[in-house]
Order: sequence, then structure tokens, then C-alpha cells
Amino acid sequence: SKRRISGFKPTGPLQFGNYMGAIRPVVEGQHAQPTVVFIADLHALTVRHDPAVLRRSSMEVAGLLLASGIDPEKTVLYRQSDLPAHTELHYLLECVASYGETHRMIQFKEKGGGGGSRLSLLTYPVLMASDILLHDIEEVPVGRDQRQHVELTRDLAVRFNERYGPVLTVPRAVHPAVAARVADLAEPTTKMGKTNASTGGVLFLLDPPDVLRRKVMRAVTDTGTEVVHDPERKPGVSNLLDLLEACTGEQRRDFRGYGELKATVADAVVATLAPIQQKYHEIDETYIEEILRDGAERARERADRTVSRVREALGLTTAR
Ligand code: TYM
Repeated sequence: SKRRISGFKPTGPLQFGNYMGAIRPVVEGQHAQPTVVFIADLHALTVRHDPAVLRRSSMEVAGLLLASGIDPEKTVLYRQSDLPAHTELHYLLECVASYGETHRMIQFKEKGGGGGSRLSLLTYPVLMASDILLHDIEEVPVGRDQRQHVELTRDLAVRFNERYGPVLTVPRAVHPAVAARVADLAEPTTKMGKTNASTGGVLFLLDPPDVLRRKVMRAVTDTGTEVVHDPERKPGVSNLLDLLEACTGEQRRDFRGYGELKATVADAVVATLAPIQQKYHEIDETYIEEILRDGAERARERADRTVSRVREALGLTTAR
């Protein structure tokens, strides 16, 4: 069975795209596959941030991952900044990556990577590559938006191995069959995201049922009245149909109109999130801290071994 990893950036409250694109696939796979899940707090430093909010947000993300079914007995769950190996490998991989290939990344362009943005925003994909390569990962369950970063990770691993010997495992991205790219309900041609400027079309995992319902009922649909799955011509309706299929596991198309579709989707979303919300409110911070500390301990050994191999291959000393 293939080793997996997935990471979550604590830049805001988790949303439904995070759940469908990555959390649920990880939860479903964790009993058959060795799995690592981490809070990508170093990645949250690549854009303007508030230290107190970051600390709180990291705890919330960890709590929501546990509430969503990440089983800490099976899965190694930890906080990236607790393991210095991430930053060490990050630098070593920067010496294998080129300026051009990070500059090309879509996310850098989208986040307005200009002269004033943090340098870490540019090198972010290399940190992500180090997250993955540290753990000898074969599969990376992520949403479609992260595919390009995993491709870069593959390129770096292959290049490293060609130049310095077979040291790194070459991973690949895996996506769920439906909802690999959940769209913003108010703007169905863009991705639903925790930091989208307007939150009217973003379903947050901790939104109360009435808020979830209202957001779905106000979803932008398309011209016409017919409910058909056609992502090109009907992105709004297709997104709702995908959400429904992701929630219920069944493909349904027999709706009399947009109103009925929306009401059905709203029910499905509320029903999917209810148990997660309930569990979240039962988890306390001391427990979360314990899990994260224990997770970092469990992750450390393999990570340190990888860094040692890389250091040796590059001609550095390994005794530390
Ligand atoms: P992040 O925190 O933006 O998102 C976490 C996960 O949720 C997925 N996702 C979505 N999937 C479907 N539809 C959406 N609308 C949607 N929005 C988000 C993301 O694809 C991701 O899988 N760089 C990563 C974090 C990271 C990471 C890693 C992931 C850092 N290192 C190593 C995997 C392996 C990120 O910003 O994800």
C-alpha cells in the first residue's frame, strides 16, 4: 500500500472544497494506507498574517481534521513548524530548483506575486516539495489546484536522483473522482477558497446550518432552467450537481428546476457537515496539542533520515 501525505494551510477556516478535495479522501484511505497529515503553518507565512490569528487557526484546522475523521491512532498528524527538517530540506531543494520553474507557478501569479510580495511566496512550491519528499511519499491526495505543485515536486525528485543518486521517492497527485475542484457558489468559474474576497459563495465547515442553506439557495446558477451537467456552458449548475454527488454518493439529474436542485443540495451539505460540527465542539485544545506533539515525534525519525540521505548525496556532512 502506498504512503500518502496531505497538508492544510491555516490561512483561514476550512471550507467544503478542502473537505471534498483532500480531507475526505485522506480519511477514507487512512486505514489501508500509511498516511501523514500536517498543518502547513509555515506556508501560512507566505502572505500577510497576524501571529495570534495564525496560532488559533492552526488549532482550529487540527480540530476540524480530527472531527472529520482523521484517526490519530492510524494517521500521523502534526504541525509543520514542529519539525525543522521541513525547512532544512526546503533550502537543500532550492539548490536543485530553478527561479524560472517556481516563478511559473499559477498560485504565485494569482496571489499577485510582484516586487512587494514575500520571497517565501515565490519559493513556497519548493517548501511543499520538501514536505512531500521528506516522508518517502508515493501518493498525494489533493484538490486539482495543487496538481501543478505536485508535478514540480516530481520534477525536483527526478532531477535530484539523476544528479546525486537514487535518494528520493517520486510521488504523484491523486484526486477524487468528483469535486476535485469545488467552485465558489457565487462565482462558479473560480475555485471555492478560504481566502476568497467574498465569503458569500464559500461553505465553511463551521458555518451554522442556516448559513449553509442560505449560501446554497443563493448560488449563482446559469441562464435557462434546465438542470444538466455541462461544466462549460453551465458551471453553476454543474458545480451544484457535483456537490450533491460528492455528498450523497449518487448521481441524480431528475430535477424539475433550479429551486429543487438547490434545496436538495442544501440538505445534503447540512447533513454531511452536521456530525463533523458536533464532533468539533466536543474536542478540546489540550487533546489537540497532545495529538500534535505525539505526531511530530512519530514523524521526526523518517524525516531526519531523509535529510541525512540528502545531505550525504550533496556532499555535506551527516553527523549532527
Ligand atoms: P490548501 O490549504 O489551500 O488546501 C488544502 C487542500 O484542500 C484542497 N482544496 C480544494 N479541493 C477541491 N476544491 C476546492 N475548491 C479546494 N480548495 C482547496 C487543496 O487542493 C488541498 O489539497 N499547498 C497546499 C498545502 C500543502 C500541501 C503540502 C498539500 C503544503 N504542503 C504537501 C499536500 C502535500 C495548500 O495550500 O492547500
